[in-house]
Amino acid sequence: MTRPNDRNHPQMIEYRNVRVALLGAGSVGSQVARLLLEHGDELASRAGAGLELVGIAVRDTEAERDVDLPKDLFTTDAESLILGADIVVELIGGIEPARTLVLQALQSGADVVTGNKALLATHGPELFAAAEQVGAQLYYEAAVAGAIPIIRPLHDSLAGDRIVRIMGIVNGTTNFILDLMDRKGATFEDALATATELGYAEADPTADVEGYDAAQKAAILASLAFHTSVPLAAVHREGITAITIDQVRAARKAGYVVKILATAERLTDEDGREGVSARVYPALVPESHPLASVHGAKNAVFVEAEAAGDLMFYGAGAGGVETASAVLGDLVSAARRHVIGGPGVAESTQADLPVFPIGTVRTRYQITLHVADAPGVLSTVAGVLAKHGVSVETVEQTSALQTDAPGADRTGATATLVIGTHLARESDLADTVVALRNEDVVAEITSVLRVAGA
Ligand code: HSE
Repeated sequence: MTRPNDRNHPQMIEYRNVRVALLGAGSVGSQVARLLLEHGDELASRAGAGLELVGIAVRDTEAERDVDLPKDLFTTDAESLILGADIVVELIGGIEPARTLVLQALQSGADVVTGNKALLATHGPELFAAAEQVGAQLYYEAAVAGAIPIIRPLHDSLAGDRIVRIMGIVNGTTNFILDLMDRKGATFEDALATATELGYAEADPTADVEGYDAAQKAAILASLAFHTSVPLAAVHREGITAITIDQVRAARKAGYVVKILATAERLTDEDGREGVSARVYPALVPESHPLASVHGAKNAVFVEAEAAGDLMFYGAGAGGVETASAVLGDLVSAARRHVIGGPGVAESTQADLPVFPIGTVRTRYQITLHVADAPGVLSTVAGVLAKHGVSVETVEQTSALQTDAPGADRTGATATLVIGTHLARESDLADTVVALRNEDVVAEITSVLRVAGA
């Protein structure tokens, strides 16, 4: 490979191939290997150097793969493979041995491309520090929202802007489940069974339905967007296992769709201190919001930036070949950097903002409760909200008794109240819900959901 027009080296310079080691040959890894072998020439012309796949480290060289790949590429000796590589692509997943191997690769001076969200969310600072120490670079476009370009836009394209908020549908399995509940009236259990049948949900779907997967992605996005290290433990997390078909139907009637969102937000606390929040929970998304029309297992990330305004990134959040696209994009970038030379760009955490707990966040709630249908009940309920400094925006009452005929016996009648609040502190809203539960006139609180956005 030759590189023309080098100002310091006017003569044509010969470049050797960039040696690529692949760790892992699962659904993404095997597609990366296939595309690398099939489109080698095209990728080389984009990268400015040939990308030579020098080996694929796996646990079992005889295991069946999604793709037929040359047998002689496989090895179980990941450590030796890393030592002979310029770029290491880690697609093993999980923490160990991925962490040790990525550290070894970085310490040997290799750039690393990874799609490992769990590793980044739990050991990101350690890995970025290791990269910076030797001038290597860690690329991770595939770690959040599969094929969707979101890391590079936040890292580069929006580096001159100030991100205000990110709201992402970053877990395809849960979006598929909620969408099936919404569009087909399926229960959570039936929708989960379908997601499992279709291969979206794992045999153990806990990481998806309890929001752990989305929380890892929220930590990565928040760290990147706010130039601050946001630990996974600081991400507030609630899953969708308690979402009922009644809640989903009622949401639609009120003009909302229930979506589980990973939110990263810049905010100011009561003392005027600037900080960030990262959280995952199911929320009511207004039908008019672009995120409301994200269906099936698709992902989308909605970014609100001070100067750029609203931006939305949409596409496949998982899948072998789709995610391989993001890995190969990083690989080409890493190879280009290798050709140009110089140290990698260090991850920026210079803002070092405090990460606020969920109680500090200001949000809106929609609370649905069954109450006694009797004089003074509404004012009692309103009084509880007022006492906690929560302002009511809307109230809708439906009486369980279908007749207003004079003389009808209303003893024991109940009504359903749907209360929408103005923006209030999460801690005040949580206290309000507890206080409402303790009121005699409140028979049951059937739903408490946040409304997305400000
Ligand atoms: N289980 C994840 C999802 C895969 O359903 O989106 C991608 O992280």
